[in-house]
Amino acid sequence: MSGPQRWDPARYAENARFVADLGQPVLELLAPQPGERILDLGCGDGALTRTLVARGCKVVGVDSSPEQIAAAQALGLDARVMAGEELAFDGEFDAVFSNAALHWMPDADRVLEGVARALRPGGRFVAECGGDGCVETIHGALIAGLDARGLDGRAASPWYFPTVVDYAARLARAGFEVPEIRLFPRPTPLPGALGGWLATFAESFTRVLPPEQRAGFLAEVEQRVRPTLCDAGGRWTADYVRLRFRAVRTT
Ligand SMILES: C[S@@+](CC[C@H](N)C(=O)[O-])C[C@H]1O[C@@H](n2cnc3c(N)ncnc32)[C@H](O)[C@@H]1O
Repeated sequence: MSGPQRWDPARYAENARFVADLGQPVLELLAPQPGERILDLGCGDGALTRTLVARGCKVVGVDSSPEQIAAAQALGLDARVMAGEELAFDGEFDAVFSNAALHWMPDADRVLEGVARALRPGGRFVAECGGDGCVETIHGALIAGLDARGLDGRAASPWYFPTVVDYAARLARAGFEVPEIRLFPRPTPLPGALGGWLATFAESFTRVLPPEQRAGFLAEVEQRVRPTLCDAGGRWTADYVRLRFRAVRTT
């Protein structure tokens, strides 16, 4: 069985709360002003959407996962099931914000076209996502593990980790000026063992395997990366690399 990653809000809250916590600098780069209309693209369970609302913004969150959107709605947020590739807004936002979601959207040009359309002229797009080399150790082990089973590991990967040159060019083609864009390593301590991270984020890889092979595959991946990512005290650190930018719609 193959298919897209499913998002379980309870599992996400347990294993991935650090994702929104580490999104604070992106919020600061956004510099949201009270009364601004903001679209939170790939809002997940709404942790950062809620922060924007608390700062006095009028926020719409969109995400392709009905489960994540239900969790965001339970916080009282205006959250809607909508894919980043199908944004249905026209000139109505002062800013689009996105944390840790764009690398799940490989059709970047289509996403950027919709983001540009959603913004008023002069509106800004401020985001952070996985960038070139993100979780390379884990990604490489997942791909190698599937390849070793005669499958196409790279084809199973859901992630698009762009370079600065690639994403800046796409932003420019979509009608943005890009005053700030940078790629930086952000080694990230995990709240538990790598298994929790894999269960939360790596489902696209395991779903191409028969159910009875999945646990063994993940245990093998964990063993393979342990020497690089786990210290003597059993603490795991994932080799995250982030792409962060501020862009402005010029037309
Ligand atoms: C790692 S979570 C980040 C959530 C939130 N922004 C945060 O900071 O906690 C990535 C989110 O992107 C969403 N996502 C993945 N692909 C998407 C797509 N094509 N369109 C919209 N959302 C998508 C997932 O459902 C998930 O909620």
